[in-house]
Amino acid sequence: VLKQPVLKQPVEGPMSTIAVLGATGKTGRRVTDRLVAAGHHVTAASRTPGAASSQVRPVHFDWADAASYSEVLRGADAVYVIPPAFVVDHVDAITALAAAATTAGVAKAVLLSARGVDADDNIPMRRSELALLGSGLDVTIIRPTWFAQNFTEGIFASSVSDGVLAVPAGTGLEPFIDADDIADVAVAVLTQPNHRAMAYDISGSEAITFADAARIIAAHIGRPLSYIDADPDEFIAGVTASGVPGDYAGMLGGIFEVIRNGWDATLSDGVERVLGRPPQSFSQWAARTLTAS
Ligand SMILES: NC(=O)c1ccc[n+]([C@@H]2O[C@H](COP(=O)([O-])OP(=O)(O)OC[C@H]3O[C@@H](n4cnc5c(N)ncnc54)[C@H](OP(=O)(O)O)[C@@H]3O)[C@@H](O)[C@H]2O)c1
Repeated sequence: VLKQPVLKQPVEGPMSTIAVLGATGKTGRRVTDRLVAAGHHVTAASRTPGAASSQVRPVHFDWADAASYSEVLRGADAVYVIPPAFVVDHVDAITALAAAATTAGVAKAVLLSARGVDADDNIPMRRSELALLGSGLDVTIIRPTWFAQNFTEGIFASSVSDGVLAVPAGTGLEPFIDADDIADVAVAVLTQPNHRAMAYDISGSEAITFADAARIIAAHIGRPLSYIDADPDEFIAGVTASGVPGDYAGMLGGIFEVIRNGWDATLSDGVERVLGRPPQSFSQWAARTLTAS
């Protein structure tokens, strides 16, 4: 179903060593590929790190094990920080990582956050942002909207296979962002100066409903994908039953409430500000990525 991604090479300047957390994930993998293509060295960190190469040093890293932090950060000029999966409050882990980075002499940290978390300083992800910003490191925050790749590599991939997308999004609009655009932004801020203490809200170029997303995907894969506006409580119960921690499932429900109410529909200009070009739309992502199977 997936076409091969097209690699861009936006990086200039001296080569560096960059620790990429979550290097096997949707953005971490793309960030790693771009850094390598531009000649940088990458310490690729996750619980199941991949293969080594002349430019990639895979390192076992687990957010739950603070003893694993120092080896990941050893020799790095900068670190790309993806918070732990399925954990709502990660401020202690982020604070410990920032301290380990300072000890290791890492100069810069780029945090993958989420758009909207700065609405309230008590939101856990916002508290993680503030902890990192207060660490003394050269910090940049990236706040994306929902990823288009959730439909191919993430939580909705099985819905696409099953032909039914049942989520409590109503007719709310969401400007899905292409993870390739996120990776381009992340690589730019990791490797260029002048992004210190900046926070970039980034979105795709067009806000669409989840029903629109299902229609667009179905047209490209040549199979039906129907959208069902799920009951919010039933959705949270279903996600919890699938093994996701209850507090995280509740947080997902809260995010859908934001979408459902039309509060996440606005477009953000962060991709343009960092890269000097507009982001992809969902339709462009689908046309580039999906094929009939
Ligand atoms: N997906 C979205 O639409 C979206 C939107 C806005 C913001 N975000 C934010 O982006 C972040 C990443 O989401 P994603 O969808 O990109 O996730 P993802 O593709 O699943 O990537 C997560 C990465 O983290 C690693 N990881 C997971 N748990 C870990 C742990 N305990 N210790 C060390 N590494 C761990 C995973 O590799 P291993 O399993 O091998 O460890 C993987 O490489 C989240 O914090 C989320 O809030 C996501």
